[in-house]
Amino acid sequence: MNHQASETPVVFVLFGAAGDLSHRLILPALHALHLHDQLPRHFCLIGVDRAGLTAQQLAAQYRQSLVRSAAPLREERWQELAARIRYVPGDLNDSALYTRISDSIRRAESDWHARADRVFYLAVPPVIFSTIATGLAAAGLQRDRDRGRIVVEKPLGNDLASFLQINGVLTRHFHENQIYRIDHFLGKETVQNILALRFANPIFEPVWNRNYIDHIVITVAESLGVEHRAGYYEHAGALRDMVQNHLLQLLCLVAMEPPATYEADDIRNRKMDVMHALRPIPVQDISRHVARGQYASGWIGGRNTPAYREEAGVQPDSTTETFAALKLYVDNWRWQDVPIYLRTGKRMAAAVSEISIRFRPVPHRALPNTVADSARPVSLILRLQPDEGIRWRIYVKEPGTQLRLRTVNMDFSYRDAFHIRTPSAYETLLKELMVSDASLFMRADQVETAWRLLTPVLEAWAANPPGDFPNYAAGTWGPESAEALIAADGFAWYAPEPGRHDDE
Ligand code: BG6
Repeated sequence: MNHQASETPVVFVLFGAAGDLSHRLILPALHALHLHDQLPRHFCLIGVDRAGLTAQQLAAQYRQSLVRSAAPLREERWQELAARIRYVPGDLNDSALYTRISDSIRRAESDWHARADRVFYLAVPPVIFSTIATGLAAAGLQRDRDRGRIVVEKPLGNDLASFLQINGVLTRHFHENQIYRIDHFLGKETVQNILALRFANPIFEPVWNRNYIDHIVITVAESLGVEHRAGYYEHAGALRDMVQNHLLQLLCLVAMEPPATYEADDIRNRKMDVMHALRPIPVQDISRHVARGQYASGWIGGRNTPAYREEAGVQPDSTTETFAALKLYVDNWRWQDVPIYLRTGKRMAAAVSEISIRFRPVPHRALPNTVADSARPVSLILRLQPDEGIRWRIYVKEPGTQLRLRTVNMDFSYRDAFHIRTPSAYETLLKELMVSDASLFMRADQVETAWRLLTPVLEAWAANPPGDFPNYAAGTWGPESAEALIAADGFAWYAPEPGRHDDE
């Protein structure tokens, strides 16, 4: 990855320019990149939408959103960015729209006396991907494989068949190297740090395998509920929304072999090795491998919160899962028979994401077996959010005349170690996109394999609607079935411990 601002001019064509995603995530990220001088010197944003605005009106709306989100706005810097915003209104089905986009790109290039890279960002629902990809292709805008890139966001399908259909539309017109599929977790600083930790330090690799690691637990817990997204979430649920993408990507980063180089395809090939090695989930014995849940009302932070079925836009008898837990195995030399447990849910007891690598006990206990506190295993905990950091939980001797062991935490906290601003995931991803580095984006085979793994579970769940929903109270760690899933192997999830700065 290259963190210098690129010298290559970029035209950023934003479809759905007046929509929620553009306002909430894309524009703030472009604004932050501009403030930190990370946009190319020659850059312009061409907003495309049906809203029938002018460029000035679109810019004014973006400015309002930035103000509302309390972004650090410096008026003269904002004016510089606003001056780079163009607007091309029109109907996506109308071929004339793509000609106007093409003309607008050419005008920018002729102003700059240079050819530009073209980023086509589809901040629109997937049902429209086909129309846009076809329109771009008909105008010849995809033809230059080195310069034209198309960016898509999830949901990339609802199951394997629908993913293949969406992907078929994109690959009909764009080469795989031109397609950037966003999984915003990959842009998070702490997620990228997993590879740095594993492969820049000589001490981890020798123990990073089944000989030393007993099991791994990956938790991505949210305290928020479905918020205003019921329209999407009712058809998604936790397995599609979080596991199919974010949690499996985390698993890949933890389990992958060292890549030969830091090139996009080297990294993605090593992740694919993990995806290929994931043992299919036996649906005939599903409850021993997967658990699902839906939140009831409960208390979070002293506030009573409604049940999922009472949220706006949710069916009163909805069977959508807001929690999912899985036990997976990676069938290869390094990980054979090491269980990897994943869990994610909304309205859980705390908003925390962490990866807990739990080590085997020592092979021979030479020391007396007196342990002063409840004996959680020796663990390496990678805290992804909040209060990002790394924690070693190790045994030491408790001070005193007796030999008593207890566990203590050795902590590394990002906040303490670095006094610099951390870019948002979208900033990082947009930056990488503009320098055409695809390492942090999903290749089609990764997405496809993830759907292949989970589609049988989705089908089995659809065939057997849950009889016990809602089955966990808001503000807890999920349903009993999830506890049973891990307890059956003699382990526990454990509530994540507070980070160093969690109380502040
Ligand atoms: C999104 C999901 O991909 O990730 C949301 O659609 C979820 O449901 C979000 O809340 C979590 O991301 P973050 O960055 O807030 O941890």
